[in-house]
Amino acid sequence: MEKNTLENIPTPALVLNYDIMEKNMRYMADFIERTKVNLRHHTKTAKIPLIAHLQMKIVGDSAKGIAVAKVGEAEIYAQCGFDDILIANQVIDPHHIERLVLLNKYTLTRCVVDSQKNVVDLNEAAKKYKINLEVLIDIDLGMGRTGVKPRDPALELANFIKEQSNLNLVGLQGYEGHLTPQTDNEIRKQQTEECMKELVATRDLLNRNGFNIDYLTASGSGTFMFSPQVEGITEIQPGTYVFSDDHLHRVVPEFEPAVSILTTVQNNTAKRLYTLDAGTKTFPTGDGKPIFKDYPRCRFRVITEEHSQIKAGPNDEFQLGQKIELIPAHICITINLHDFIHVIKAGEYIGKWPILARGKNY
Ligand SMILES: Cc1ncc(COP(=O)(O)O)c(C=O)c1O
Repeated sequence: MEKNTLENIPTPALVLNYDIMEKNMRYMADFIERTKVNLRHHTKTAKIPLIAHLQMKIVGDSAKGIAVAKVGEAEIYAQCGFDDILIANQVIDPHHIERLVLLNKYTLTRCVVDSQKNVVDLNEAAKKYKINLEVLIDIDLGMGRTGVKPRDPALELANFIKEQSNLNLVGLQGYEGHLTPQTDNEIRKQQTEECMKELVATRDLLNRNGFNIDYLTASGSGTFMFSPQVEGITEIQPGTYVFSDDHLHRVVPEFEPAVSILTTVQNNTAKRLYTLDAGTKTFPTGDGKPIFKDYPRCRFRVITEEHSQIKAGPNDEFQLGQKIELIPAHICITINLHDFIHVIKAGEYIGKWPILARGKNY
C-alpha cells in the first residue's frame, strides 16, 4: 500500500487493499473450478454486498447464493439483489423467526435447525403467513456449538420436520470450525475428511429412510480445501478468506490479509514507548491482539478503549503524526465495529465503502 495514500486517511480507520482481496477471491475461484462443489460465499466477514457480488461474478456458475449469519444480514443482502440466502445458523427468537418468514415472501431464505422446539416455532410462523419454509439440519461434526449429532439423532429430527405442514427439509449443513486453528495440514485434512464422511453417512441414513437429500454444505476458510475430496459434499461456505487476517494467514498462508487498521502515533511517552490513537473500540482483542504490519518487533503494552500504548522494537523510531498499520487477529469481529472501509486499488484511493451489514447481529 502506498504510504502517501495512507497519509490522507483520517484515523483510526479500516483500509482495504483491493488487489490483495481480489487475489484471495481469484484463488478461491480457481479452487472451485477444479472441484465439483459450489461456492456459497459466507458474507459475515466482509458485510459489504458489493464484495459478495464481486465474488459471485469472479466464480461464475459455481457460485450458488450466499451464506449469512443472521436475519438482519439476510435482510440487507436481499435488498441488494441476492435471491438465494442461507442463514447458516439457527433462528430462535420469535421476532427474528417472523422476519425470516416474511423475507421468504420475496426472497428464498433458508436457515438451519437443530431442535424440535425450533422446528415447531418455525412451522407455526410459516403457517401463520402461508409460507413453505425450506430448512437444513445442522449436524454437529465435533465443534459442540450447535447441531444435532450425526446419523440417528439427525434422522429423528428429519422425521419430525417431515410431520410439519409448512417446512421442507432440503439439505444438511456441517461446520467443522473447531479444525480451523490446526496448523498441521495433514491432521487438518484427515480430520476434515472424517467430518465430511459423517455428513455423507448421515445423508445416506436419511435417504435409506425415505428422504431424498443431495444437498450437503460445509466448511470454512481453514478446511474448504479438503472437504470436496469426499464424494457427496456439494457446497462449501467459507467467508474469512476474502479478507483473511493474522489467524487465518498462519494456517492458510495463500490468503493474505487485505485489511489493515490504520492508526496514528499521538504521543512518545518515554524512550521507545508510544501511544496510538486506536484501542478496543477500533479493534476487539477478545480473539487476540493485532500484529504490526511493518514493525514485527513492536509490541502492545496496554490497550484501552481509544488508545494503545506500544513498545517499539530496538530499531523502530516513530514520529508524532506517523501512520502505523495493524493487521487484525480476527477480521470478522473487527469489521463489525466500523461503518465504512477506505479502499485502495493499484495504489490509488478509490473511495469509502459502507459496511452495510455491520451491527446486524440480530
Ligand atoms: C456455519 C458457518 N459456516 C461457515 C463459516 C465460515 O467460516 P470461515 O469464517 O472460517 O470462513 C462460519 C464461520 O463462522 C460458520 O459459522
